[in-house]
Amino acid sequence: MGFYHLMFLYVILHNCMEFTFAQMPGFVSIDCGGEKDHTDKLGIEWTPDDQIIYGNTSKISTENETRQQYQTLRYFPADDRKYCYSLNVQTRTRYLIRATFLYGNFDNNNVYPKFDISMGPTHWATIVISDANTIESQELIFLASDPKVSVCLSNSTTGLPFISTLELRQFNGSVYLTPYEEQFFLSVSARINFGAENEDPVRYPDDPFDRIWESDSVKKANYLVDVAIGTKKISTKLPIANGKDELPPQKVMQTAVVGQNGALTYRLNLDGFPGYGWAYTYFAEIEDLNPNKTRKFKLVLPGAPELSKSIVNIQENAQGKYRVYEPGYYNITLPFVLSFKFAKTSDSTEGPLLNAIEISKYLEITDGSFDGAVAASLVSVYKSLDWAQEGGDPCLPVPWSWMECNSDPQPKIISVKLSSKNITGGIPSDLTKFSSLEELWLDGNAFTGSIPDFSGCPNLRIIHLENNQLSGHVPSSLANLPNLSRLYLQNNLLSGHVPSGLLNKNIIFNYTGNENLHKESSGGRHNIYIILGLAVGAAALLIGFIISFLLLCKRKKDHKQEPEASFHVTSKSNATSDGAQCFTLSEIIFATKNFEKKIGSGGFGTVFYGKLSDGKEIAVKLLGNSNIQQGKKEFANEVSLLSRIHHRNLVKFYGFCQEGEKDILVYEFMHNGTLKEHLYGPLAKERKMKWLERLEIADDAAKGIEYLHTGCIPSIIHRDLKSSNILLDKNMKAKVSDFGLSKLAVDGISHVSSIVRGTVGYLDPEYYISNHLTEKSDIYSFGVILLELISGKEAISNESFGMNCRNIVQWARLHIENGDIQGIIDPSLGDEYDIQSMWKLAEKALMCVQPHANSRPSMSEVIKEIQDAIMIERGVVGGSSEEISRNSFHSSLNMGSLDTGVDPYVSFHASTKPSAR
Ligand SMILES: *[C@@H]1O[C@H](CO)[C@@H](O)[C@H](O)[C@H]1NC(C)=O
Ligand SMILES: *[C@@H]1O[C@H](CO)[C@@H](O)[C@H](O)[C@H]1NC(C)=O
Ligand SMILES: *[C@@H]1O[C@H](CO)[C@@H](O)[C@H](O)[C@H]1NC(C)=O
Ligand SMILES: *[C@@H]1O[C@H](CO)[C@@H](O)[C@H](O)[C@H]1NC(C)=O
Ligand SMILES: *[C@@H]1O[C@H](CO)[C@@H](O)[C@H](O)[C@H]1NC(C)=O
Ligand SMILES: *[C@@H]1O[C@H](CO)[C@@H](O)[C@H](O)[C@H]1NC(C)=O
Ligand SMILES: *[C@@H]1O[C@H](CO)[C@@H](O)[C@H](O)[C@H]1NC(C)=O
Repeated sequence: MGFYHLMFLYVILHNCMEFTFAQMPGFVSIDCGGEKDHTDKLGIEWTPDDQIIYGNTSKISTENETRQQYQTLRYFPADDRKYCYSLNVQTRTRYLIRATFLYGNFDNNNVYPKFDISMGPTHWATIVISDANTIESQELIFLASDPKVSVCLSNSTTGLPFISTLELRQFNGSVYLTPYEEQFFLSVSARINFGAENEDPVRYPDDPFDRIWESDSVKKANYLVDVAIGTKKISTKLPIANGKDELPPQKVMQTAVVGQNGALTYRLNLDGFPGYGWAYTYFAEIEDLNPNKTRKFKLVLPGAPELSKSIVNIQENAQGKYRVYEPGYYNITLPFVLSFKFAKTSDSTEGPLLNAIEISKYLEITDGSFDGAVAASLVSVYKSLDWAQEGGDPCLPVPWSWMECNSDPQPKIISVKLSSKNITGGIPSDLTKFSSLEELWLDGNAFTGSIPDFSGCPNLRIIHLENNQLSGHVPSSLANLPNLSRLYLQNNLLSGHVPSGLLNKNIIFNYTGNENLHKESSGGRHNIYIILGLAVGAAALLIGFIISFLLLCKRKKDHKQEPEASFHVTSKSNATSDGAQCFTLSEIIFATKNFEKKIGSGGFGTVFYGKLSDGKEIAVKLLGNSNIQQGKKEFANEVSLLSRIHHRNLVKFYGFCQEGEKDILVYEFMHNGTLKEHLYGPLAKERKMKWLERLEIADDAAKGIEYLHTGCIPSIIHRDLKSSNILLDKNMKAKVSDFGLSKLAVDGISHVSSIVRGTVGYLDPEYYISNHLTEKSDIYSFGVILLELISGKEAISNESFGMNCRNIVQWARLHIENGDIQGIIDPSLGDEYDIQSMWKLAEKALMCVQPHANSRPSMSEVIKEIQDAIMIERGVVGGSSEEISRNSFHSSLNMGSLDTGVDPYVSFHASTKPSAR
């Protein structure tokens, strides 16, 4: 017991004897945003993080969550800084660190936060919140090499970074020892208690290290599925002998599943994989078998036959019943989608048994920055000052706010900016040890003493020491800094002579306001400001000016020549500064040859092909017969809003035309038409899109939608996403079209009176019922598009989905939930796809079409999944397959599973031998 360390401030914990439960030593449980200490039902003592000077706290309340530590959180600004918690640890000791995040909509924002967390300089995870009421959790197991570890939040891409709890648990044994522990953390992916009594996880006090053993009966996305028929739970009350403290706790080992039909199969998603991992299984014979019965089984892995050679005979391996046997692999390649199977051997009377598994991914430790130790020593002197409390590595993952670092693999500090920080005392000598320092700003403080020797920083270019109380002589060594170009020493208490070396240097040098500092030669003359090389400098400056002036003009000229800007603009033009171009009707008629070629029609009107006089191709949308009462002004306002939305994956809006009875919108022309045509229109008959192509289209479209949701303020809900609104350009890059139009429609611009907008088959059922519109309605529609991409079928069809089913969502859900993904895959894909990427996308699509909006993921989460799927697909189909396959298998193995792309089984690294610890 004693103290732990937060942001460099020590907090004394209560003496543990006060509590009923004897707290394990090495437990630190921080209740972020909390107000006072408390002990939870489990007996874990929580301490608030009230010593942290950064961020704000917030109270939240979420359904069914009563634990005090989840009623509060701390959040930080979404800036480019990092915000760190520092914890004291014992070196050469293994720990588990867990960070959890319960959003609870604390900021009343519809945009779920997404940000990074790091462990010291190592990127730990990207936290993507996809549900306000679900706790996100990340765990690492690590060997402490420093007496301090820091967990930092940074790089917020949406929303505000926040944290709910931070927990540190000390191990005392070597179960998690790996040969790589100095270079790799173990990032925990799965820790499952099979045959669990109920859905509650097993943790402290049952597990003295407070690991969380998830129940196998929990039903959640990406969790255990494909459970083999005949899988039965068994349990015992008898104690399980377990030689090492850190093996799974008794309560976990007392339950198991048995494959009564001879096999146990499961599938689960391993986030962060494929990669190298650490995977162990835990067995204990807890059934009272007759002596003439046997239980022998093996792992069946078609991709790695050698691994299935080792036969598990629990009683024999563990030397008895009710004893733990824990075979595993400390370095094994695992895929995203892990399907594992234990099958009984032919001579065994009983089916396989499994009590628990634990799988972690190796996370490579990033070296700290080069100057880390010196920087730590520097700030330790100023513990109580704000700027010294930022914590973590000085440069990684982002530098302290008053610092800049270079981009070396091990970054070096190149700039220190501590102007006006009210710092007293001498200039710390640590500053002179930053060997790559280029800029030093210490002006406007209360530094006393003399100027140190900066010979150790040969790259120094700029030194600001003005407005301090520095005394003594100006060191002549300053003149030896080869790159020095600016030196500011004014308004100090310096004395003696200005070194002539400095006066002779071609630099900007100000040393006024130092009463007793004299220029050597001319005696009593004070306050001399010298700029040498004036002529050269001024000339350079002048040339610079001229060049930049020319550039400016050129840009202007260029701009004028831009074709879309070259059209005649009506005198009472509504064109906005940001580019909504007002076309005249005659221009449009000319471009479309009087609306000759119709290329599409939709809810908002008819689309015609056009070509402007300069050859630019356009799509002209003639909005539906407008009985507009509300007038032209709203139309123009909305249109000018539209013109501010720019994104690679949104169809470009060029301008509009409003003359007479006509309301016209002008867009870029998309050569390859709509996604719909390619999936099941006439184009599909000519050429079927490949799976990778479909994934890339999904990725493009998703990014466009994400931009509408999170990149625009206020965010834009599309309301009418469908495969006919995803357009494809010359290079088959997808862009979303028709965004912003529903708003036009609903807000009274068009004649459309119904409030709920959307297209049957894509329409969010919850929105339909409640009329309450959020981004999640778009997510639903996008889920339907994903299902179309997988199946090549229309969203609504009377024929495609069999009896009593018209709707792609119902049809696909039925198949996917039964584990029958093959049943929905577009037959025209043949077997040219990787089943893992298919599963990934299918499962995400199902999440998107959840009936309740708040169980649907955010767009950014969907994108992550699509990109993972692309990675898998490229790895297998593309040229870069080498990487994954070579790593996955020993060369002597054939590449069964990944080659064919249809085998869901895990690929084990064949050169690793099972090892019993
Ligand atoms: C809260 O618990 C109730 C009853 O168990 C359940 O019906 C409901 O779905 C839960 N809500 C959430 C958000 O988990
Ligand atoms: C925290 O609260 C203060 C005062 O209410 C406010 O000025 C500041 O901007 C808030 N910080 C963040 C990160 O929201
Ligand atoms: C910040 O996050 C984005 C998206 O998650 C990522 O692309 C980017 O590389 C991250 N930046 C840093 C400095 O980690
Ligand atoms: C095993 O022993 C039980 C009695 O202990 C007996 O009923 C059963 O037939 C035996 N089974 C086999 C396969 O020998
Ligand atoms: C695991 O094995 C692979 C292949 O032998 C090797 O490249 C890797 O460094 C090993 N360790 C880790 C932590 O990945
Ligand atoms: C500067 O520091 C002094 C003493 O260290 C303190 O009294 C004063 O309030 C500080 N001023 C500012 C602006 O922080
Ligand atoms: C030198 O510093 C003094 C005091 O800050 C200032 O008044 C003066 O303008 C500076 N000289 C030049 C040439 O910048």
